[in-house]
Formats: sequence, structure tokens, C-alpha cells
Amino acid sequence: MADPTPARAEPLSRSLMFAAACVQGVREGRTLDDGLAQARLHSTNPGAVHDLAAHALRHLALGEVLLAQAAARPPAEPLSSLLCVALTVLAAAPEKYGEHTLVSQAVDATAALPGGQRMKGFANAVLRGFLRDKAGAIERAMVEPGCVYGLPDWWVERLKAQYPGDWRAIIEGNNVPGPMTLRVNIRRASREDLRQHWARAGIESRPVGQAGLILERARPVSALPGFDAGLCSVQDEAAQRAGFMVGVQPGMRVLDACAAPGGKTGHLLELADCDVLALDADARRLALVQQNLTRLGLSATLKAANAAQLDTWWDGRPFDRILLDAPCSASGIVRRQPDIRWLRRPTDITRLASEQGRLLNQLWEVLAPGGQLVFATCSVWKEEGRDQIDAFLQRTPAAKRVSEPLQLLPLSGDADNHDGFFYAILQK
Ligand SMILES: C[S@@+](CC[C@H](N)C(=O)[O-])C[C@H]1O[C@@H](n2cnc3c(N)ncnc32)[C@H](O)[C@@H]1O
Repeated sequence: MADPTPARAEPLSRSLMFAAACVQGVREGRTLDDGLAQARLHSTNPGAVHDLAAHALRHLALGEVLLAQAAARPPAEPLSSLLCVALTVLAAAPEKYGEHTLVSQAVDATAALPGGQRMKGFANAVLRGFLRDKAGAIERAMVEPGCVYGLPDWWVERLKAQYPGDWRAIIEGNNVPGPMTLRVNIRRASREDLRQHWARAGIESRPVGQAGLILERARPVSALPGFDAGLCSVQDEAAQRAGFMVGVQPGMRVLDACAAPGGKTGHLLELADCDVLALDADARRLALVQQNLTRLGLSATLKAANAAQLDTWWDGRPFDRILLDAPCSASGIVRRQPDIRWLRRPTDITRLASEQGRLLNQLWEVLAPGGQLVFATCSVWKEEGRDQIDAFLQRTPAAKRVSEPLQLLPLSGDADNHDGFFYAILQK
């Protein structure tokens, strides 16, 4: 967990309450981002809320089993999620706040819930009961695969089937929070100059990939010298590879077909003075592309449109390069978005893969002869990667692979600390 201490700290009980609301939201099918957006309206320590909620979601199955063991009758929401958050911290990160502080703050948070005064004794009994036999309770819970791996069973079975040699390492990577990685805007600063500038301000970082810096300790971007001036952007190293793969040259006509929030649009324009059309089906998300480009001092043509419906946006002029960063299950970025594992269903993968196939078919039509299309997904599932590209090559004789497709796995070691991503470069 990152350092949760803000300038004006709220009591831990309030952060616990907001984190519990986020976890309850995910259990009811809403995203963690939605919950955090709500929490930011009221909490003075959104960093702690994020850390607590993300930790609880990584260990949600464990929290639920521990709660079922400790409570003769399962409590209703929101107490259920509050106790799950508290139990996951007591079980898996007790050093963070100290066990007794955490219990008393969780009891205070219970008291602040509607009708909570009546439930204080129950919450106290559950948490103190757990601490009395913590090792035994955890050992009993760990017979459940969900508690061991922090993932739904179907997800673990899929990983085992698709990655018989790597599934354990992938799961380990999933459960370690990703580092804060930045991409340096080489139009405005060299990586080494920016690294030294930050070091003088006490911010240590190390180079990664071609243009990245990994911070030793995550911090809000507002506390990062040069961020507001467009010297860098937050982007995982695996995602940074997309811009380089597209191979833009000055004057090229480039389509970024699924552009929002614009992480890769900005990178393409940092690399060359090209003519970029950035599409996204979601007009609200497209506004974030403009915000990012403005901060970086770059510009593109933006259009809200479904990329697969050519008649709604295409002017008939083909593109030299296309980036299709397709909508996908996001199974490669669960270390950054720990809610995804609980929100996805196996049927989503089939639905998203057929959507990706449709986008590939349509966008191939607007690629110039000799042009290249980069297909990317932040997924580890083969249906959204290798299988998708094999099927496309089979039904599209004019398409050739420029190089062997690349499946990056989400691992957490020093050498390979990046999200999971799939890339294929196709030539017409
Ligand atoms: C993986 S995200 C793109 C991330 C973006 N390339 C970046 O680097 O910041 C996928 C995006 O595709 C958009 N999208 C989904 N279906 C689409 C479609 N049919 N046409 C255009 N955009 C679509 C979603 O709104 C979402 O913003």
C-alpha cells in the first residue's frame, strides 16, 4: 500500500467507511472508479480510501470467507463490506495501521453507519474474535482457491489452461500493486534531464523501456514537477510500446481508432508531426483526450464515433497507420484495477472478442495499401490476442504479419514490471 498520510488527515474510521462503500459498489456491479469518484467528493484522504479499497478487492474472497467464519449470521450491507475491508487489512497487511487501532477505528466506522450504534458490539466481537485465532482462521480459509489466489475460480482455471507454465507468476503479478510509471514527452525534455530534475526535488526514479521512468514511490501527479507543463504522462511501460510500434513519420495520416482517454494519442504526436484523427465511441471520454493533448501542447482532430461504422466518420481518404487499441476484458491490468476480476464474466470475453473482430474487419478497409495497423489489447486472454489475429489473417489474405505478435504478461519483477498487453502489427 502507498503512504496514505495526507496533509490534513481524516480519521481512519472515515477512510474505512468510504473504502467500504467502494467495495460494496463493486459487489453490486459498479466500478471502483465510480466509487472513488464519489469518495473524492467527501473524503479528505482519497489516497487512503483508494489503498484500502484496492487492498480489500485484491483479497475480497479471503475477507468474505473470514467474515462467514466469524459471524454466525452474515451482516447486511454496508456493514458486510466494512468488515470485509477491516478483515482483509488485519489478515494481509496488519502492519499498516496496527491491529488494535484498526479494530477500534472499524468499530467507530460501524457506529457512524445508519443504525450503527446497535451494531458496534457485533463488529467488535467479529474483529476481536478473528484476532484471537488469526492464524487458524486464515489457515481454514486458505483451503479455498479464491482465498489463495484472490481471483474468481473461473479466472484461475482459464489462466491454468492458457498459461500452464506462467499462471502462478501472472497471479502473483496481479496481486502486487503496479508502480507509478511515467512516459517522458521527448518533445519537451530528455528522460535523463527529467530524472535529474526530480532527483534534485527528492523524487527518485529509474528508467524503463524506451521513454519511461518508474517512480520509487507513487505520488499524486500534482506533486510531480513538470507534469502540469506537459513534460510527462502517466502510462505503464507495456502501454508505452504502442506508440513506438505504430512507427509514425512526419506527415503521415494516422487513425487512433479507440483513443480515449488519449494516453497513446499523445504519444503518437510526441513522436512525429503527423496528422492524427482520434475517434472514440464515448463522447465524454473523448473530452479527456483533448485535456491530455492540451496539457502536452499537441493537437489532433477528435471525433465521437463508432469506429466500426465507417459511413458515420470516414471521409474516404485512407490512413498510412492505424492504432486499434481495442475495447477488451482488461485482464492484463487487474493489478491497477482490482475490481475487474469481480466485474467480468466469461461471456464478456466472447462478446468483446467478436467486437474486436468487427473493428479489425472495418478498419482494414480504411488502411492504405502498404500501410500498417497495430492491434492492441490490455488482455492476457488468447481470444483477445493471438487467436484473434490468427482468425483475422485466415479470413484476410491481403494481410501480413510484420513481426511475431507480442504477448506481454503482467509480472512484478524488477526486469519485467509492466501490465499485460497484446500487440500485433499487420501490413496491407
Ligand atoms: C482500451 S480503451 C483505449 C485507451 C486509449 N487508447 C489510451 O491509450 O488512452 C478502449 C476505448 O475504446 C472505446 N470504444 C469502444 N468501442 C468503440 C468503438 N466501436 N469505436 C470507437 N471507440 C470505441 C472506449 O470508449 C474506450 O475509450
